[in-house]
Amino acid sequence: MSSAQAERRPAAAGFAPDAEIVHIVGARPNFVKAAPVVAALEARGVRQAVVHTGQHYDDRMSAVFFRELGLPRPDVDLGVGSGSHAEQTAALMVGLEREFTTRSPGLVIVYGDVNSTLAAALVAAKLHIPVAHVEAGLRSFDWTMPEEVNRRVTDQLSDVLFATSPEAVGHLAHEGVDVDRVHLVGNPMIDTLLGNIDRFDTAALRARLDLPDAYVAATLHRPANVDDPAIVARLAARLHEVADQVDVVMPVHPRGAKAFAAAGLGDHPRMRLLDPLGYVDFVTLVRGSTAVVTDSGGVQEETTILGVPCLTLRPNTERPVTITHGTNRLVVDSELPGLVAKILAGETPGAPTVADVPPLWDGRAGERIATILAGR
Ligand code: UD1
Ligand code: UDP
Repeated sequence: MSSAQAERRPAAAGFAPDAEIVHIVGARPNFVKAAPVVAALEARGVRQAVVHTGQHYDDRMSAVFFRELGLPRPDVDLGVGSGSHAEQTAALMVGLEREFTTRSPGLVIVYGDVNSTLAAALVAAKLHIPVAHVEAGLRSFDWTMPEEVNRRVTDQLSDVLFATSPEAVGHLAHEGVDVDRVHLVGNPMIDTLLGNIDRFDTAALRARLDLPDAYVAATLHRPANVDDPAIVARLAARLHEVADQVDVVMPVHPRGAKAFAAAGLGDHPRMRLLDPLGYVDFVTLVRGSTAVVTDSGGVQEETTILGVPCLTLRPNTERPVTITHGTNRLVVDSELPGLVAKILAGETPGAPTVADVPPLWDGRAGERIATILAGR
């Protein structure tokens, strides 16, 4: 095809006003991002359905978010569950194809970069159903991350792309995505944070969990950190060095639970290992902490707004705006004990270079997305 030839795509912008919008959610971060978009479309009277793929299924990884965030109960749960990438993605695609064929939605909205996101975009594109991608254009440029593969492919397949930061818009333009389809709308994960800010009562959580005044909150789940027992053992030893200085509270993601237990992570008097927390308790834990150690994407963004120092155990981030405009800093494990000591001494090793929070992270991203999609 010559480059002069026009692209032919489903007509996303003009989807029929009475057609159903279907939201695809499956994993923990999806629920936090979808909640404000679903609410804003509901307020505009748009017909919509929530399809839960079942990629995450434990109560603490899934149902608790529906209870806490006012998300409507899923209209359907495909119950896909866990598996290798190929097994999980294939099962997601089979379930979603059946669902989309029965429902014939006017638009499918996908969130973030998990396997459910990619599977839904692929299935919808082949059925000529327009796709909107919320959190488009993030790039770590690290193809060893499954999320990087998922985001790149999803963006190529999407008809409407909602970006959370100006860099994301730049990446999409650089990759040849038609800029007319890209909208900088802010960050729906931050809508959820700001919309619930009064619920994050740090004094009450301290009392309930018997937490000291100073503690570090930790959460790790990236394959590069939790899949290899040798790396897990090294990280456990580093976290023990941190716990020599200050209590460490870690709600453990199920992906790394066995490996961290085998490495003896809990065998330190100042290490507190917990099951995954519900959203309100987790963000409250972060809000009340002295510093956070993480590899989570969402937590880098939440700490940026909460002003809590964030030490991200990764060589790169698809969210550089959390470094330039926030409290985030990329670290290797050997730096952790020293950086925590500095933070405890009142230094701010992750100080932002830009004084303001990222543009449009103001709690209104869901409203902007709904206005663009519903035309009102
Ligand atoms: C997934 C996403 C990742 C995201 C993370 C958020 C992909 C490729 N990865 O990673 O981008 O940051 O979710 O948390 O989509 N498990 C349970 N209970 C559950 C869910 C999972 O025990 O409710 C265990 C299973 O052993 C499973 C493992 O966790 O094999 C990994 O789950 P999976 O959904 O494949 O990937 P995550 O590591 O959770
Ligand atoms: N989160 C939570 N409980 C936890 C850990 C995280 O509610 O025990 C929330 C967190 O505040 C954020 C979202 O889950 O809103 C991010 O999910 P996760 O870190 O699993 O995924 P990522 O953002 O890395 O894709």
